[in-house]
Amino acid sequence: MQKNRQLLWLIGVMLAGCLQAQPPVIDSKMNAFVDGLMSRMTLQEKIGQLNLLSVGFDVTGPQLSQDADAKVRQGLVGGVFNTYTPVAVRKLQAQAVKESRLGIPLLFGYDVIHGHKTIFPMPLGLACTWNLDSIERSARIAANEATADGLTWTFSPMVDIARDARWGRIAEGAGEDPYLGAQIARVMVHGYQTGDLSQSNAMMACVKHFALYGAAEAGRDYNTVDMSRRQMYEYYLPPYLAAVEAGAGSVMSSFNEVDAVPATANRWLLTDLLRTQWGFQGFVVTDYTAINEMSEHGMGDLRMDAQLALKAGVDMDMVGETYLKYLPELVAKNAISESQINQACRRILEAKFKLGLFADPYHGCTEERARTEILTPENRQAAREIAAQSFVLLKNDQKILPLRKSGTIALVGPLADDQQNLLGSWRAAGDWRQAVSVQWGISNVAGSAVTILSAKGANLVDDPALRATLKAFGAEIPVDARSPQEMVNEAVAAANRADVVVAVLGESSAMTGEAASRSDLGLPENQKDLLRTLVATGKPVVLVLMNGRPLTLGWESEHCGAILETWFGGTEAGNAVADVLFGDYNPSGKLTATFPRSVGQIPIYYNHKNTGRPYKGDPAFKYASRYLDVPNDPLYAFGYGLSFTTFSYGDIKLNKTALADDETLLASVSLTNAGERAGEETVQLYLSQPIASVTRSVEDLRGFQQVRLQPGETKEVTFRITPEDLKFYNAKLEYDWEPGAFIVRIGGNSSQVKSATVNWHKKPVALNPSATIRPLAKGSE
Ligand code: NOJ
Repeated sequence: MQKNRQLLWLIGVMLAGCLQAQPPVIDSKMNAFVDGLMSRMTLQEKIGQLNLLSVGFDVTGPQLSQDADAKVRQGLVGGVFNTYTPVAVRKLQAQAVKESRLGIPLLFGYDVIHGHKTIFPMPLGLACTWNLDSIERSARIAANEATADGLTWTFSPMVDIARDARWGRIAEGAGEDPYLGAQIARVMVHGYQTGDLSQSNAMMACVKHFALYGAAEAGRDYNTVDMSRRQMYEYYLPPYLAAVEAGAGSVMSSFNEVDAVPATANRWLLTDLLRTQWGFQGFVVTDYTAINEMSEHGMGDLRMDAQLALKAGVDMDMVGETYLKYLPELVAKNAISESQINQACRRILEAKFKLGLFADPYHGCTEERARTEILTPENRQAAREIAAQSFVLLKNDQKILPLRKSGTIALVGPLADDQQNLLGSWRAAGDWRQAVSVQWGISNVAGSAVTILSAKGANLVDDPALRATLKAFGAEIPVDARSPQEMVNEAVAAANRADVVVAVLGESSAMTGEAASRSDLGLPENQKDLLRTLVATGKPVVLVLMNGRPLTLGWESEHCGAILETWFGGTEAGNAVADVLFGDYNPSGKLTATFPRSVGQIPIYYNHKNTGRPYKGDPAFKYASRYLDVPNDPLYAFGYGLSFTTFSYGDIKLNKTALADDETLLASVSLTNAGERAGEETVQLYLSQPIASVTRSVEDLRGFQQVRLQPGETKEVTFRITPEDLKFYNAKLEYDWEPGAFIVRIGGNSSQVKSATVNWHKKPVALNPSATIRPLAKGSE
């Protein structure tokens, strides 16, 4: 019946469309359909479309909503999240389309963050692949599985720039760089949505958290954010903009304030910037109860909060039900107009139309699809390959890695045979029982000539207070029946009998993600004790890390022979770790968030400013910007990551050193694989402009290329640089470039680069046509 209704509309509209040529056909069809539907809706039903409830399996915040079924039947719900599987979705959707007065279908949202059932590496790890094809592929597979399971809307990508590893949610984003973050935002949106949301395997993206959520003061989740507009435009906003430009169907407002107004009440942010400047056409949903939380921010009571949010440009209220409760009386009192509600309602209905829900409210989900398209061997294989690409080799002295496929390995650590943590903090629908542990992966890959001696060595978390908190949050933190000393003794005995120790240590996944900020970024103390004892055996120690953020690894980097950062690698983590440990995959990941030496250096990021008193390396000079007790530079810089081979960079060659406006600079380096294994290098291009009308970062990433080389092979890697790459936001927030000297830097990470200088000239901009011929300055003939 729904299908017929939409079809009739379409036929009518197509006929009408022949007569008046104006808007694009899809828009005119949609407009006519939505106009017709809205003309039959009551005010209460329109407000119902703005209501998003959490119904079903997961709880991702405080619970408020009640009587969901009854509300769905009354047409008081626009969408739900946390319900999936074809059976559950079909049941609830049938209530909406068959039992509500107008039969408007629901959106089914969910946090499909890095995979649905086949879980890929956590997003910070995905970013460390620097492989846009792999990242898009992961989003595509996620959308395919999620739609097979009944979902039509994912709360992803999370594109918040983060410079503070104390913030647990640094795990969920792409790291600290706006250029890379923007590329990743774009491909993720495309991976989820494809070009056509009505395809049964496409789902709508939701860019979050708009805006600046990653800049929470002191890295404490939900904390205040305060920054200049220029800082926002230059460093924090580009990934959101890229996602909007890629056509993301929805945007989620963030919990934090922006310019002293909560984002969810911020009209400048949600309307002037997002819609007027950026041309966003989709709808804005709040984060979980963000309207209600405006009272705590100091914006007034819930009635006032609902009013402020709607006026700011929030279309949909997640969980809080303030719209449902207060908008009718606010209209009655003329505090808001019905046209504001119409506008929000229209945006939600448009999204449903684009998803094709009026034609097929189930979006092609069937039990057959769920059975055959989820967790397939192909999807798992993709997860394995992408996980291996996400790992970052931080250290590899004396070529300890790769390991030989013979001899004896002591496999130690609380995460060595763990499945529960591998999926990370946003496992959502992921089932940890499907995850491959490192021990299991090693036995799959190593072959029968390797003897594995296993020992847990330590609990993941021994600190009773932390353990109690994590348990209260619902995490499983197993505690061994043995004493810490007994566990260490067993591990040392294994190490003494082995050729090499592989220690798999790190954070509990519950120590990362939302509401999981930390002030100490070291490994948990009991795990450090274990590591010290293992190192003291004199056996070579390979540290395999699993964690959701940059850690402080000063001691580890001095004493372990090799360090492999594997984040939380997803369903196939263990196989992928083994692939790298034994050299079946040569590691290629590069960091996208700086690893500090100590927490005191935070915020620390590669694209910082120079200051007026930069430290130039003279320890006897007092008045320079530096610490007394720690160097300024990080332990591992942005872009850093080793390979089992070595790449050598030739000097930069330029096609010219002086350029005029519209010219293109070609900057090349010869890259040679100087080692003995084939490998892949991510060649990074940074630009800096030492003199400009506003202070600029010491360097900004402006390009990268992934190059695969056989041993001994050399390739010329060329970057094309145009004035577009020179642009930045000036003090008036105009996005433009300024002439002058530029330093081109090319290298394997942000701190090890070759550099060359060019001068770029710019014709002065004519103020009006008659001023295009400027009088020659005196004496210049
Ligand atoms: C709160 C989180 O901030 C957001 O990222 C998530 O999408 C929602 N909860 C829904 O679970």
